[in-house]
Amino acid sequence: MPGPVTQRTGQPLSASVASRVLEDDRRYLLHSWSAQKSRRPIVIAGGQGAMFWDAEGRRYLDFASQLVNVNLGFGHPRVVRAIQEQAAEVCYVAPEFASGPRSALARAVAEVTPGDLNRVFFTTGGATANEAAIRMARLATGRQKVITRRRSYHGATAGALSVSGDPRRRGAEPGVWGTVVAEDPFCYRCPFGLEYPACGIRCADHIGEIIEFEDPDTVAAVIVETITGSNARIVPPPEYYPRLREICDRYGVLLICDEVMAGFGRTGRWFAIDHYGVVPDMMTLGKGITSGYVPLGAVAVSDRVASFFESNVLLTGATYSGHPLACAAGVATLAAYHEEGLIERARVLGERLIARLAEIGERHPAVGDVRGKGLFACIELVRDRATREPLVPWTPRGAQEKHPAISATLRAMLERGVYAYAKWNMIMLAPPLVITEAELEGGLDAIDAALAVADEHAGRT
Ligand SMILES: Cc1ncc(COP(=O)(O)O)c(C=O)c1O
Repeated sequence: MPGPVTQRTGQPLSASVASRVLEDDRRYLLHSWSAQKSRRPIVIAGGQGAMFWDAEGRRYLDFASQLVNVNLGFGHPRVVRAIQEQAAEVCYVAPEFASGPRSALARAVAEVTPGDLNRVFFTTGGATANEAAIRMARLATGRQKVITRRRSYHGATAGALSVSGDPRRRGAEPGVWGTVVAEDPFCYRCPFGLEYPACGIRCADHIGEIIEFEDPDTVAAVIVETITGSNARIVPPPEYYPRLREICDRYGVLLICDEVMAGFGRTGRWFAIDHYGVVPDMMTLGKGITSGYVPLGAVAVSDRVASFFESNVLLTGATYSGHPLACAAGVATLAAYHEEGLIERARVLGERLIARLAEIGERHPAVGDVRGKGLFACIELVRDRATREPLVPWTPRGAQEKHPAISATLRAMLERGVYAYAKWNMIMLAPPLVITEAELEGGLDAIDAALAVADEHAGRT
């Protein structure tokens, strides 16, 4: 039998162990969002901080925080210790009981979420958090419809995928009834052909028009990724959320902010909505809540929503809701964010990231736009800066199958020791909050050099 396949020494795995991992992966595993035969995964042997290394000991800077979740980087001793200690104490306690780490994490989350988001319901991940939020919105309002935005992803379960605009929703279609799609606050590709600020934030008012047209008495909630993650790192203008809050209040519609990706410091504030001074009715959480060390999701709800469930049954649940190991990891993760000043660090490093990307973008004709907030950014590649024609088309297929221009650019980054992923024509960047300044600058130098490959593909060198 092969030995353990992860270790923390940075030493390579033996060739036989590595090839066994790959063989078993190819033969026994099914991987998400991909046709299996095209997969050629890197075998990850271990990691520390913002670095991980493969079976041959090649080191990579993780400019994606894996799946935008490993905010504390690899091997954070405090989180590892918390999991070990909790495992030794008690691994599982059914949801109906009270448990130390569960209560402690609920309090820790309530302390950092904005306004009166004071009660927390735990789930098993981001998708189930969105399922629970939608369920609660429907129960609390007695209405059914949910308005979502076109370029959104809320998770892979049937309900969450049905309210996602992302083409991956094809997997759940025809989907759950009652989703109404609205346009995005996407200034670089404004769906209304307008320009900020002369646009008057048409994209927010448009949601009010949809609510009117659908009949407000049928609309339970508007769900938004506060700053859109997978589908383009869309940062709405400052007036957008205050206006959307007003519109939701006018019609008694609940505002759900999905902060699964953007939450827990990723954008340089605890939550992306904090940039706008707005308090949603519910906020869905995942990923950074445990820095990915153990799966967990949560819904933080306002006092008003919570009070509905004081005397009405909360008709949802799961065996692993508030799993103690995950909650212990969450308590340690939040303590690390606080004590290591990582939210402020993400703000400072994020400003550097966005400023340098803008400067790098100037040099590369294939770069149409760079945008983001904090350590949450993307580089959008185009054929022509004037027309903004995407370097690869935004087709449903293109979301899963990498175009050769994008594969070649990512490969050039990997050869220079930087891992990031891409969607359509966008290179997505989300380094861990613990990345050092030197690592950030070194990674950006590598990206700068690799973008020459995108320039070639765009027909300009
Ligand atoms: C904004 C957003 N919401 C929800 C999800 C789903 O989270 P999970 O994969 O943990 O179910 C994701 C996953 O990437 C996400 O980015």
